[in-house]
Amino acid sequence: MSAREEGGLHAPAHASHSSGGHGHPAEHSPIFVGEKRTKLDEILSRYPSKMAALLPALWIAQDEQGWVSEGAMAEIAGLLDLTPAYVKGVVTFYTMYHQHPVGRHFIQVCTTSPCGVCGAEDVAKAFLKHTGCGELGVTSPDGKYTVIEVECLGACGFATPIMINDDFIESVTPERVPEILGTLK
Ligand code: FES
Repeated sequence: MSAREEGGLHAPAHASHSSGGHGHPAEHSPIFVGEKRTKLDEILSRYPSKMAALLPALWIAQDEQGWVSEGAMAEIAGLLDLTPAYVKGVVTFYTMYHQHPVGRHFIQVCTTSPCGVCGAEDVAKAFLKHTGCGELGVTSPDGKYTVIEVECLGACGFATPIMINDDFIESVTPERVPEILGTLK
């Protein structure tokens, strides 16, 4: 089970707002025009209700912006006949949706108890140290990394599992962290 499928329950504790701000709806440029609108219409045609298209619609917005701004949430709410509060509730539930700009490499470390007893906290600390992020949810000064802790990634027998964007890596130890970061552009 991946975070993309199920999400975790930990929203980032802190946010770096080095770019983009909160994306107030008044400053929002519509996302669902042209090709993106066509794609959304195609997704809507597969479901019996508009609400069912919420997760893929949010994913399209995040692909476009790199995160899901308040403006994007309002736009999607309007298109799917939902309230902005409902859309925000979904965005804040899943760690796969970013509520602020994040680093190019978004690193999720499982620190739930089974991984926790195997040293997951030390893995998270190693990422914070070697990326320069310093704190969970804060983007590194070079804009490359954001590290967060998440709930069970479904690989409890392979502590510590992490996700870097869409890539899943098992059995990560603090010692492996520099090598893993070295593979990232
Ligand atoms: S508790 Fe870490 S993957 Fe399940």
